[in-house]
Amino acid sequence: MSNLFAELKTPITGTYKQPTGLFINNEFVEGVDKKTFEVVNPTTEEVICSVSEATEKDVDIAVAAARKAFDGSWHHTTPQQRGVLLTKLADLCEKNLDLLAAVESLDNGKSITMARGDVGAVAGCIRYYGGWADKIEGKTIDISPDMFHYTRQEPLGVCGQIIPWNFPLLMLAWKIGPALATGNTIVLKTAEQTPLSGLVFAQLVKEAGFPPGVLNIISGFGKVAGAAISSHMNIDKVAFTGSTIVGRAIMKAAASSNLKKVTLELGGKSPNIIFNDADIDAAVSWVNFGIYYNHGQCCCAGSRVYVQDGVYDKFVAAFKKRAEENKVGDPFHHETFQGPQVSQLQYDRIMGYIQSGKDEGATVETGGGRHGDKGYFIQPTIFTNVTHEMKIMQEEIFGPVCAIAKFHSEEEVIQLGNDSAYGLAAALHTKDLNTAIRVSNSLRAGTVWVNCYNMLHHQLPFGGYKESGIGRELGEAALLNYTQNKSVAIRLGGPLF
Ligand code: NAI
Ligand code: MG
Repeated sequence: MSNLFAELKTPITGTYKQPTGLFINNEFVEGVDKKTFEVVNPTTEEVICSVSEATEKDVDIAVAAARKAFDGSWHHTTPQQRGVLLTKLADLCEKNLDLLAAVESLDNGKSITMARGDVGAVAGCIRYYGGWADKIEGKTIDISPDMFHYTRQEPLGVCGQIIPWNFPLLMLAWKIGPALATGNTIVLKTAEQTPLSGLVFAQLVKEAGFPPGVLNIISGFGKVAGAAISSHMNIDKVAFTGSTIVGRAIMKAAASSNLKKVTLELGGKSPNIIFNDADIDAAVSWVNFGIYYNHGQCCCAGSRVYVQDGVYDKFVAAFKKRAEENKVGDPFHHETFQGPQVSQLQYDRIMGYIQSGKDEGATVETGGGRHGDKGYFIQPTIFTNVTHEMKIMQEEIFGPVCAIAKFHSEEEVIQLGNDSAYGLAAALHTKDLNTAIRVSNSLRAGTVWVNCYNMLHHQLPFGGYKESGIGRELGEAALLNYTQNKSVAIRLGGPLF
């Protein structure tokens, strides 16, 4: 086998051929400098394989390919053909669901059940945007009988897309769907922790029949390839999901290069509020899912839990019991709910937060330590007696760590919920319709869930208020991130100037 493929094995699929090169112009290639980096399995802490690392030179080559496709083949592809290609790609994701999900579990550590759900959502998202491709419409605007005015929603051009490791394939789908439907071309960089599934997906892009250069997928590091994308003079737009600190750096790079358009989907510290009249059993279930889903590695994780004083003790006891029942372990076991954190670095960051919670005097109700003796596993952890100033109540932990505080009045909890630099999501649990609507309308967040959590769907826009981001992903709203308006004014007659 050439050095652009590795023979790997998963418990679900057996042996498979893993591409390891950079996917540029529909081919896997080595980087110009022939650099590679190691990919680690977070369950075993062992190296899975090495993949090519993109440097600035490779970004240049990928951008040139994307530009050529934008001006050439993709420009000549009709909207309907773009829709057909996206639909084919969605079908191929479903056809290869077992492989894609297994590779995701292998590289990211998420449970195979969750990974299968992710791949289903990937297909759904891509198919949905395939449906939009031939429905991107302008307007005719009647201003004067002497003139004919119309608008066009045109693509931006070459889009740089930088994605994180928590949902490698799903973040890819959210990014490429609206960009391709609207006629853009792409250089997408996967996260250095999880490059494998994107490369398997790249094979499907070619199989679906996309012209070369339309979608280029490269592996590499943020400070090298990521920085090259955000400061590139020939990239028209950069879309990013990840940390707020890197989001700021990307916006600065965009500003000081060519003022490329920027959309950001950043962190969160989302409040999850339980009122006295809530169905406590249901609330426990949603709070558990809200914080521990994907091992807490969710931008919208419900990491600040506020419980009204009348049900506080009852809720905490039931939630503790529930958290202790979560199955932590081998991601390939079909009953596993929580696998390892993605990397040693993330493991260390989270353990640092757990230590700070202990040092600042919060109470560990359950968890608070390592799970097992191999792999980056952390016990589902609940802190109570958490005060508003504590670090674990203020900062995004991005792990299976929940901070709980008691509240008395609705007014107080709205104030607490909104007292954050973030504003990605929020949730509340109540049987009272008026409370539900009043509080939802008062919470400064891009998404509010009532009596549920994490109910994301490709038809529904998602994105952040405040420092949680700029722009919206998913739904019709995402199309706006990838099109620009052109107004055309045609003179039909009338006086000359
Ligand atoms: P990160 O923001 O460093 O990484 C995300 C992506 O950005 C990766 O593809 C990375 O290569 C790229 N990147 C890093 N530095 C860059 C730069 N200077 N220019 C361009 N691209 C760059 O996040 P990291 O270190 O993996 O995780 C740190 C924290 O970020 C997490 O603990 C969590 O709080 C937050 N995070 C939030 C995510 C979200 O879904 N909103 C996803 C991942 C992380
Ligand atoms: Mg990995």
